[in-house]
Amino acid sequence: HWIVDNLEHVTKNSPQIVQAAELLKKNELVAFPTETVYGLGANAKSDEAVAKIYSAKGRPSDNPLIIHIAKKEQLTEIVDSYPDWIDPLIDRFWPGPLTLVLPKKEGLSNLATAGLSTVAVRMPDHPAALALIEAANLPIAAPSANLSGKPSPTSAKHVMDDLEGRIPGIVDAGPTGLGVESTVLDCTEDIPVILRPGSVTKQQLEEVIGSVRIDAALLNQEELPKAPGMKYTHYAPDAPLTIVDGSKEFIEQLIQKEKEKEKKVGVLTTEENSRFYSADKIVVCGKRSDLRTVASALYDSLRKFNEEQLDVLFSEAFPAEGVGQAIMNRLLKAASHRIIKER
Ligand code: TXA
Ligand code: MG
Repeated sequence: HWIVDNLEHVTKNSPQIVQAAELLKKNELVAFPTETVYGLGANAKSDEAVAKIYSAKGRPSDNPLIIHIAKKEQLTEIVDSYPDWIDPLIDRFWPGPLTLVLPKKEGLSNLATAGLSTVAVRMPDHPAALALIEAANLPIAAPSANLSGKPSPTSAKHVMDDLEGRIPGIVDAGPTGLGVESTVLDCTEDIPVILRPGSVTKQQLEEVIGSVRIDAALLNQEELPKAPGMKYTHYAPDAPLTIVDGSKEFIEQLIQKEKEKEKKVGVLTTEENSRFYSADKIVVCGKRSDLRTVASALYDSLRKFNEEQLDVLFSEAFPAEGVGQAIMNRLLKAASHRIIKER
């Protein structure tokens, strides 16, 4: 457990970073912070190292990993030639929460890419992550550092709660900022496709490269998603969660009906509405007037429901605009797509 408490001064030569990088070079796992969520890192060139990620997380091996780099030059190690319109995206959004799916080059672990001919790559915008990748001098494969199916970790405590005893090291630099994982953009089609919505929005992408599509599977549950990981149940709290698209009066009625049945009820709400409800556990997830605060608090909020025994959970719905698209995508997964609409 290496604590980095001064992010302004962390470099590839900081003692904590050097020690953590040693583990990576020995094909061991290290959990580390990014600007989105904590990642569970391994040498992306080694099958031995990458296999440890899948077993520590209990992750299905048909679900490929994102390769993290610290410098644009590292791209040439990982990807084959790519079209010209990619460069402006990289210049605008890297380092940052945008993952690009590009043609893969030989040399990476085939486990990391789950045998696909493409590779997902990003440069995280976090000084400790960049220092660690530089110190290891390797491309680093890293999924979110949670047990498969659990909400992604936005603090070192979340990582420990899930993986303590299963991983040899963690770089702890406090809570992450953005809270939802990177936007995954498939750049192997003529019109690029958002496979997973994230902090970089469709509108921001379109300002740089023109028209962008959204994977049909994100809009329609019947389609099979192209990002293999998007088909799995994910983020689910222990008690069943239902999203309620309606007024707070309507949500309060649902809560009261459950309470009449002697059920323990949890509700995910926002600063604006929290005082309104009579639920047994009220989790305040940011401010509705600023959806970035909701994204940032979302996974911690979902984990809070597991702190006590609850029978039924409700969540307010959010407008699926801008970062709200990522929030609703994650909430719907956490709720296994259960949603009640007020008529
Ligand atoms: O913000 C993030 O992206 C975090 C931090 C740690 O960087 N990482 C993350 O990784 O969320 P993970 O493994 O939890 O999610 C990776 C997603 C999965 O849905 C996976 O199926 C998709 O990216 N993916 C990876 N490689 C792909 C490929 N070649 N083609 C399509 N989808 C791919
Ligand atoms: Mg994940």
